[in-house]
Amino acid sequence: MLTKHMILEPTDTNIQKAAQALRAGALIAFPTETVYGLGGHACDGVAVAKIFALKNRPQINPLITHGAGQDMLEDYAVFDERARALAAQFWPGPLSFILPLKDKSGISELVTAGLPTIGVRVPAHKVARDVIAALGAPVAAPSANISGRLSPTAAHHVIEEFGDKISCVLAGGVADVGLESTILDLTTRAPVILRPGAVTAEDIELILNEKISYEDHTTSTPKSPGQLLRHYAPRKKLRLHAVDVDENEALLAFGSTRFMAGRHGGAVKDFPKERVRNLSEAGDLYEAAAHLFGYLRALDQSSYTSIAVMDIPNKGVGIAINDRLRRAAKSQES
Ligand code: TXA
Ligand code: MG
Repeated sequence: MLTKHMILEPTDTNIQKAAQALRAGALIAFPTETVYGLGGHACDGVAVAKIFALKNRPQINPLITHGAGQDMLEDYAVFDERARALAAQFWPGPLSFILPLKDKSGISELVTAGLPTIGVRVPAHKVARDVIAALGAPVAAPSANISGRLSPTAAHHVIEEFGDKISCVLAGGVADVGLESTILDLTTRAPVILRPGAVTAEDIELILNEKISYEDHTTSTPKSPGQLLRHYAPRKKLRLHAVDVDENEALLAFGSTRFMAGRHGGAVKDFPKERVRNLSEAGDLYEAAAHLFGYLRALDQSSYTSIAVMDIPNKGVGIAINDRLRRAAKSQES
């Protein structure tokens, strides 16, 4: 099933081919700095419908529209001063805005799930911007995984998800950031982070000079419909806040494991290699974010029955890592 020829090197010819496929209403997968995306022409309702079908994604969950540059997106979203200031600082990059949708924008209603708002971003990965520029129109792209499962951070992960159901994957190496973009709602007076990512509240506060909060899912219905859904679920059970490792568990570590032990004896440092992945031995949260989905995927494929996960500090990008881990663990309950 692993058809290597579907992974295309991003040569000029292949970028043109991928853009042509999008123009013809087909879907392609492409790299971004956050995760790989499954893209379709954002104004082509039939193409966008294929995205939902292929991912088995509920249609209440809107998609992010990707532009080659801010100007392309200004035709579809109403930018205010805050959006302009943040775009000047963080675009291209891993920050998405929710903005009012322009009248008669031409964007497929499926992309916005019929909402009066639109999610937009300009990805930092050059291959992503090249293919969107070659198309000359915005691309709607969710993460290239079956709905609810781990997001892909490498081209071969996309093949593991979809096999030959997609026409091609443009190759772009392992995703630098490794977590989906931060989503910032700018449709309200006080901006709110609907999904934490590598651009943190503190990063945004420095530009806007105001306090930025994270949406509190314990007291409110999430404004981002995707935050309601089952998410990031490996097949194996996760056990968070682990300080030791049970007999049948693999370990997703963070920082030093020098003094960590197995519950039934033995030291983690003597475990077989396939049993342990360390997100960052040095305790670097950005490195940990970049490794998170790939390592979870690898441990999910190991011979152990579940995965113990060490504590990750809940600050900076650690907030986004813990958000994904909590959802992954929670979606397995009940
Ligand atoms: O990093 C990323 O953002 C990746 C890459 C491919 O760019 N894309 C991505 O898309 O993560 P997806 O579909 O997996 O997540 C999009 C999230 C969903 O939670 C959705 O509910 C939210 O964005 N969203 C999109 N449009 C929205 C809107 N108008 N209002 C509120 N939330 C919206
Ligand atoms: Mg996703």
